[in-house]
Amino acid sequence: MDLTVDNISHRYGDMTALQQISFEVKGGEIVCLIGPSGCGKSTLLGIIGGLIAPTSGEVRLRGTAPAGSLNPLTYVFQDFALLPWRTVRGNVKLALEEHRLSRDEMRSRVDRALEMCGLVDFSEALPKQLSGGMRQRVGIARAIAVTPALLLLDEPLSALDAQTRDLLIEDLLDIFKREMATGVWVTHNLDEALRVGDKIVVLSRRPGKLKKIVSVDIDREKRTLPESAIEMARLHNELWSLIKEEAVMADREVAHA
Ligand SMILES: Nc1ncnc2c1ncn2[C@@H]1O[C@H](COP(=O)(O)OP(=O)(O)OP(=O)(O)O)[C@@H](O)[C@H]1O
Ligand SMILES: [Mg+2]
Repeated sequence: MDLTVDNISHRYGDMTALQQISFEVKGGEIVCLIGPSGCGKSTLLGIIGGLIAPTSGEVRLRGTAPAGSLNPLTYVFQDFALLPWRTVRGNVKLALEEHRLSRDEMRSRVDRALEMCGLVDFSEALPKQLSGGMRQRVGIARAIAVTPALLLLDEPLSALDAQTRDLLIEDLLDIFKREMATGVWVTHNLDEALRVGDKIVVLSRRPGKLKKIVSVDIDREKRTLPESAIEMARLHNELWSLIKEEAVMADREVAHA
């Protein structure tokens, strides 16, 4: 499905968090949101997901959800948000319980999500028995169990070490491809944004304004190859120079607050 973010502004009381943000995400694309801490990335994701009503502006979804979709969009959070007393299977099932499904459909959806996320052997484990990477796989399995058209990811890999993050990026990209899902992916990590994003939306420090949209016009499969190294480095430099000033200023504002 296509997503249009049209002139979104948001205030919390007297504080302006977001100012006039517009961009488009085409069906099957992944768009990354980057910007300094507190610039309103999670707020924007919440507005896109319908959890927060914006002060002004509009979010539109166009097109048809995939066959069997129970929810057009779902979230993957940084802190996994798992129920500690439920098994892996029970946590994935959680997303389906509000829908009236037969036992067979419930089971086949959970099995499919567990399989896609490499969790089949862990289905009866409790979250505390799992590594951080495995826990996040449960969060992802829960999100895809409903066959969403649009996945909203709020720093899904930030709590993980670098190697686990790299592994999970590849698996997430496979999932996006198999599900033909569209994504809005918030991250602090420029390399992550450059690995997964078709476009990277750079926000300024608070109040978050659109600073630039950077397109990554290299096939995902080719981005890690030596032949792409120069162009990838150029894009990295461009992104870094865009956010460096914002990050430094944001840091000072926090320090003086
Ligand atoms: N419910 C709320 N009520 C009041 N202010 C809020 C609320 N949620 C967020 N804020 C403030 O709005 C601003 C934007 O917050 P938000 O969490 O969207 O930023 P962010 O870019 O996701 O930050 P981070 O990079 O730290 O995750 C921050 O100054 C934050 O303190
Ligand atoms: Mg955030």
